[in-house]
Amino acid sequence: MALLVSLTDTDIAPWLKVFQTELSGMDIRIYPDVGDPCDIEYVAAWQHPFSEYKKYPNLKAILSLGAGVDHITKDPELPSGIPIVRMADNALTRDMCLYALHWVLHFHSDYYRYAQQQSNKQWLPQDFVSPRDRTIGVMGLGNIGKQIAESLATQGFNVVGWGASEKQTTGLIEYFHGKEQMNAFLNKAEILINVLPLTDATRNRVTESELRQLPQGSFVINMGRGCIVNESDLLSLLNSGHIAAAVLDVFDIEPLPDDNPLWSHPSVTITPHIAGQSDGETAAMFMVDNIRRIEHGEAPFPLYDPVLGY
Ligand code: GLV
Repeated sequence: MALLVSLTDTDIAPWLKVFQTELSGMDIRIYPDVGDPCDIEYVAAWQHPFSEYKKYPNLKAILSLGAGVDHITKDPELPSGIPIVRMADNALTRDMCLYALHWVLHFHSDYYRYAQQQSNKQWLPQDFVSPRDRTIGVMGLGNIGKQIAESLATQGFNVVGWGASEKQTTGLIEYFHGKEQMNAFLNKAEILINVLPLTDATRNRVTESELRQLPQGSFVINMGRGCIVNESDLLSLLNSGHIAAAVLDVFDIEPLPDDNPLWSHPSVTITPHIAGQSDGETAAMFMVDNIRRIEHGEAPFPLYDPVLGY
């Protein structure tokens, strides 16, 4: 019985330490040293190459390094019926909350302006705006989105949220749902944060017509998936000034190609898909717990739902 570790762009040392200590009865193999493919029962995966999964006839589950599993499900030859387990490590969620907070403050507290002012040696305090007078819109209300929304609300921001299905509005956050309520949500979002998962339903969900619903001079933080917010529509609204600035961590094509105009746009900040970097130790332990659950005949958590697409 073997666990195949295939974590592209990741320092696998802390992962291996946990797997080797905690899964003593299991052979830990590192891709591309697969050995006999019949031995592979589990894959710890981030961007595992397409057409590989179908070579492992005894695969019991795929454990995703990421909360999003589109890097697995978009494999056109993915064998059907193999459980895919998403990452829901608390450390990942916490880091995404911190990433969101950092960039919300960047815009809310005018730090992006002060960076420009410094290059002109300009001493010019901007007007104070209270967090309660700033509305943040969080799009995508799964575990991560809800926690981002709640953490910003706890800091005093006015937070609205949008998700595909209805959520109980809490004292802190006003929730919107479905196609019919999307514009009402966007109209309020001075800073829009996207954390939707990429599914057939969310692909290209935010195009020019949705972006136009944002208030004039609003900001966009995309830390979900690239193909959800239409890149060229975003660029044209940045160029027109309707959107004042954007921070993008995810893109249609990653790594972002050299000739993509987003790289050099003065109102765009790019981070290389790091908003939710997994903490190797805790995330590996999250996978170990799920492997143990499966070995004991219990259901792993959280399981990808092919009908919902996440
Ligand atoms: C990162 O992109 C993730 O899916 O967690």
